[in-house]
Amino acid sequence: MKKLISLILAVMLLYAVVPAIAEAVPAHVLVVYFSHAGENYNVGVIEEGNTAKMGRIIAEQMNADVFELVPVVPYPQDYDSCLDVATREQQKDARPEYEGEIENWDQYDTVFIGYPIWWGKIPNIVYTFMEAYDFTGKTVVPFNTHEGSGQAHSQRDIEGKLTSAAVLKGLAVRGSKTQNDTEGTGADVANWLKGIGLAE
Ligand SMILES: Cc1cc2nc3c(=O)[nH]c(=O)nc-3n(C[C@H](O)[C@H](O)[C@H](O)COP(=O)(O)O)c2cc1C
Repeated sequence: MKKLISLILAVMLLYAVVPAIAEAVPAHVLVVYFSHAGENYNVGVIEEGNTAKMGRIIAEQMNADVFELVPVVPYPQDYDSCLDVATREQQKDARPEYEGEIENWDQYDTVFIGYPIWWGKIPNIVYTFMEAYDFTGKTVVPFNTHEGSGQAHSQRDIEGKLTSAAVLKGLAVRGSKTQNDTEGTGADVANWLKGIGLAE
């Protein structure tokens, strides 16, 4: 009887301690993204941006922390006005500010960077982020949404910008697919993560 009670107590202790240990281990993967909700090409007015949806899927599959680049000055909800603002930012090579900062940057060894393609390029606010942190020794993984341009030049632009990091092959998915087909996007992400050696 004593043995049985000891066994039950041991099992109860194990159940109490294991989750505490799991919670104490900090995530080493971070998903950072910029995404624009509101009116967008091919999807109408959306509550959650396409890249945000893709970022959430990646974070779930990688058990990662998430940091969204939320602009201090919001972009217009209206699509045409947003096109104009993006054009001006690119012409001026602007560095728009975003809210907050990433805590415990050093704990992350792998950083996913997500963005929509804007006029064939990475939105300027993502450059604000890339210039704010030291990427030495990190593994960087680009991902993006688009409506026809694929990755455009963004893979090479990130490789050229973050020369102290190892940049893995990114994934581009159509924004309308990430918005309307969560399962299909999830499968694309899973295959890609396997292909670049980040999942089994
Ligand atoms: C300012 C702006 C410029 C865009 N330029 C392009 C482009 O050059 N090529 C492309 O394929 N899609 C372009 N798009 C479409 C977006 O890349 C696409 O809708 C993306 O999924 C939006 O993601 P988000 O909802 O995360 O912001 C553009 C959209 C905006 C708002």
